[in-house]
Amino acid sequence: MIVADFVDLRSDTVTRPTAGMREAMATAEVGDDVYGEDPTVNALEAEVAALFGHEAALFAPSGSMANQIALQLVVPPANELLCDADAHVVTYEIGAAAAYGGISSRTWPAVGADIDPDVVAGMIRPDGYFAVPTRAIAVEQTHNRGGGGVIPLATLRQLRRVADDAQLALHCDGARIWHAHVADDVPLVEYGRLFDTMSVCLSKGLGAPVGSLVVGSAEKIERARLIRKRMGGGMRQAGVLAAAGRYALAHHVERLAEDHAKAARLAEAIAPFGVLATAARTNLVPLDLTKSPLDAHALAAAARAEGVLISVLGPRTARLVTHMDVDDAGIDRAIDTLTRILRA
Ligand SMILES: Cc1ncc(COP(=O)(O)O)c(C=O)c1O
Repeated sequence: MIVADFVDLRSDTVTRPTAGMREAMATAEVGDDVYGEDPTVNALEAEVAALFGHEAALFAPSGSMANQIALQLVVPPANELLCDADAHVVTYEIGAAAAYGGISSRTWPAVGADIDPDVVAGMIRPDGYFAVPTRAIAVEQTHNRGGGGVIPLATLRQLRRVADDAQLALHCDGARIWHAHVADDVPLVEYGRLFDTMSVCLSKGLGAPVGSLVVGSAEKIERARLIRKRMGGGMRQAGVLAAAGRYALAHHVERLAEDHAKAARLAEAIAPFGVLATAARTNLVPLDLTKSPLDAHALAAAARAEGVLISVLGPRTARLVTHMDVDDAGIDRAIDTLTRILRA
C-alpha cells in the first residue's frame, strides 16, 4: 500500500529519512561492526553512553532486541522481572523474555506512567521459600500504551530507592525517553543515572530508519555484545544506519516539542466528541471510545477511507501519534476528518 497521500498517525515509526539524514548515511565511514571496526557505530555508541552518563552503549537493530538484551543482562533464567501489565516488554515482544531469557515476568496493574512505588515494592519476592526471586524492575518512559505519559522524576527516584533496598536492577525501556526529556525538561543524564540498563530508540520520533541502543556499564555492554550476536543482531557495515542515528540526535531531539504541540491540538479538538482523549503530554493521543457510537475498527476504517490512518489498540481504544512527517496542514486535515466522522 502506498501511504504517501495519507495523513499517517498510526505511529512515529513511519517517518522516512530526510534529505540531510540520507546525505549523512551516504557519506558515512563504515567498517565491520562485528569486529568492532565501524567508526560511525563506535562514535554513536560513545555519544549515547555519554548522553546518559553511562560507560558504554551497544547499537542494536530494534527496540525490542535492545530491551531483550538488557533484560537478559539483569535477570538470570528462572528469575523474575516486575513491570506493568501494559509494558511493551510483555505486551509487544511476543514472549521474548521467556523464550530467549527464560525470564519469568510478573506485572502490576496497567496504570501507564502513574506508578505507585509502594505497590511495586510490595510485589518484590526475595530469594528463598521456593518462590521465583525478583531481580529487576522495568519501567517505560514515555509510556506507549499509557498514552505517552511521562513518569515523574520523583517517582523514578523512589523506584531507584525501592530497587536499591532490595538489591534489584532498574531497567528503562526508553524508546521515547527523548520525548520525556523535552516534555519535562529533565536532562538525559539525570534519567541515565537512575537506571542500571536502558534501551533507547532512534527510530521512534527521532526519524532514523533503524536503530536502538542498550546503555549500561562497560561490563554489562561487553556481555550485551555476546547476547546480541547470539540473538542474530550482529551487524556488519552498520555505520550507514548509525550515521542516521547520529544525525537524528543532532537535529531531531529538540524539535519533538513541535510534535507535542500538534498532539495537544489534536487531543483538544477531538475531546468534545464523546471521546476521552487523555491530555496529550507528549506525541501520543489515546482515544477512549467507550462512550462513542463507533468502535475503534469502525473509526479507523472510516478515517482511512478519507485518507487518515490511525491505530486500533483494542475494541474501543485507538491511538493517534504525531511525528516529523505530519505537518500542521496534516493535523488540520486529521482534525477535520475525525471530528466529522465522530459528529455523524
Ligand atoms: C515503548 C516501546 N518500547 C520498545 C519498542 C520496540 O521497538 P522496535 O519496534 O524497534 O522493536 C516500541 C515500539 O514502538 C515501543 O513503543
